[in-house]
Amino acid sequence: MYVPEEKISEILNTSDIVELVSESVILKKSGRNFFGLCPFHSEKTPSFSVNPNKQIFYCFGCGAGGNALAFVMKYHGIGFPEAARMLARKHNIPIETKDLDPAKKQQIQSRESLFRLNKKVMSYYSGILKEDPAGKIAGAYLEKRGTHPDIIDRFCLGYSADKWDGAVGFLRKEKVGRKTALNSGLILPRKQGQGFYDRFRNRIMFPIFDINMQVAGFGGRVMDDAMPKYLNSPETPVYSKGRILYGLHAAKQHCRQEGSVYIVEGYFDFLSLFQHGIKNCVASLGTALTSEHVRILKGYASKMVLVFDSDAAGINAAKRSIKIFMQEGVDTRILVLPDGNDPDSFVMSRGRDAWDGVAKGAKTIMEFLLHLSMETHGLTVEGRVKILEDMKAYLAEISDSALRSLYVKELSETLNIDEKAVLEKVRDQVNRKGSHAPRGRLEEEIPKESDPLEEQLVSMMLNFPETIPDLIQAKVFDFFQSDRLRKIAQLISRTDPGDSGLVNEILGRVGGEADQELIASLAMKGSMAKEEEKVENIHETAGDIIKRFIRVRKKNENKITTKIISAERGGDADVMELLKLKQQEIQEYSR
Ligand code: GTP
Ligand code: MN
Repeated sequence: MYVPEEKISEILNTSDIVELVSESVILKKSGRNFFGLCPFHSEKTPSFSVNPNKQIFYCFGCGAGGNALAFVMKYHGIGFPEAARMLARKHNIPIETKDLDPAKKQQIQSRESLFRLNKKVMSYYSGILKEDPAGKIAGAYLEKRGTHPDIIDRFCLGYSADKWDGAVGFLRKEKVGRKTALNSGLILPRKQGQGFYDRFRNRIMFPIFDINMQVAGFGGRVMDDAMPKYLNSPETPVYSKGRILYGLHAAKQHCRQEGSVYIVEGYFDFLSLFQHGIKNCVASLGTALTSEHVRILKGYASKMVLVFDSDAAGINAAKRSIKIFMQEGVDTRILVLPDGNDPDSFVMSRGRDAWDGVAKGAKTIMEFLLHLSMETHGLTVEGRVKILEDMKAYLAEISDSALRSLYVKELSETLNIDEKAVLEKVRDQVNRKGSHAPRGRLEEEIPKESDPLEEQLVSMMLNFPETIPDLIQAKVFDFFQSDRLRKIAQLISRTDPGDSGLVNEILGRVGGEADQELIASLAMKGSMAKEEEKVENIHETAGDIIKRFIRVRKKNENKITTKIISAERGGDADVMELLKLKQQEIQEYSR
């Protein structure tokens, strides 16, 4: 045990799962439960649920589930001890680390010392900007760009002086260990001889905060045309480009208020928008957006607006990012700014009202892609077929079939091509990608890990513990076909509900993530049923369920079921042919 058992109980008793999950997922109350968009898989309609009574979460879409600790682990991608410590720190519960596994302990300590170091260095850089004569030139640069002093303060901008040993000297003075200093990426070993030198020299410094307001890394910009224009911290144990969004720590509450977020590319794009009161904004820092980014953002806004420059590079960047957003099924708009502007230059020169004006004209993904494709191919019959060819690649990326058919419908309407034909094309593409089973193959029978009737019984145990003695008496568990469910049922029947309640107690005892998720799911499903129908006499109901279960089990013993799923597929429709027919029709009409 890394963290003492009683500490875990204390942490779980003190945390409130609704409050915790709300920090990263928009939750709406419905009956006894809360629902929101799952942060662990892509979805358009909320199937992620949180139950405040049992203090658990469960996603009906992807099956993720568990208690508050499981949520923290999964959401931040960290291990159990670190998650426990994170929650403990939040609630001011002291935890001794001395009995931690040495490797784990080291990992946690090294992350913590990096955050501490970064914070110090942030003050060091901002001190130079504000107080040191060497920082004058940086102050002048920011003034020239129109960055307001309030923004400089709020985002703790700084300046790294034009020398090789600024941060090196500062870290030495602060007695920061050599390993931590190197890990931070702020200094590098000299290529020749001994000693170290500064990574950031003569640059405007932008601290990059994570969502918990800790300094994860830095970006630095030159003040002239030197290359590279921007330099960022390398990946470190606390800075991961695929997860961090610049400005989110400050923007998150505004994103929630507005229900939308602008995603821009650069530091100055973000800062200038923020300065003009457009605070629901984050910057991707020029790196490709990842599905992880999108999932994090989904916790704060349901609508996302990707903002791009109108040059070729901007359009290409837009095309690259779009796939991720389509896959994640978010309501995404594309805003291409006019006249070669980026968000910074646009809002600085034209102001907020002009921004709101162009923002209204943001296109949906389909409109944007179609528009691009139409500009290239035109709208003749052949052109439209080519457009369809372009578009099917995007459509095939969407894993959610309901979502895909919505796009297919939109496309078929715009192109005036039969919906079935469009669908057929897209399906071919999907099959070619190998993401679906090849044609005509029968679905294979998957050995059952679980069983609906048995699940129902376990769910009953979790929701109506008073029925457990009835189940034990009827020797129900002997009839279980699923070993896994039998083990869980037996564990439940032996567990005393402690202070934290039966479900949480059980969740504390099963080790595997899969079992945790199954238990959370059964607890949740049962609680929804509980809500719908008032159970009058629970023992009578339990008796009926038990009888039915045993009857079915006995009947099934000598019965073999075969399941044949025919993969019924229509013949290939040739889009060109259909179009030609349609065109003939139209011509005949207009004669
Ligand atoms: P300004 O010229 O200061 O307005 O920057 P910008 O944000 O308009 O620059 P640009 O559109 O060229 O780049 C957008 C973002 O990509 C920047 O904010 C950086 O985060 C990143 N970026 C740009 N150039 C570089 C570079 O040379 N190296 C790295 N690592 N990142 C860069
Ligand atoms: Mn710019």
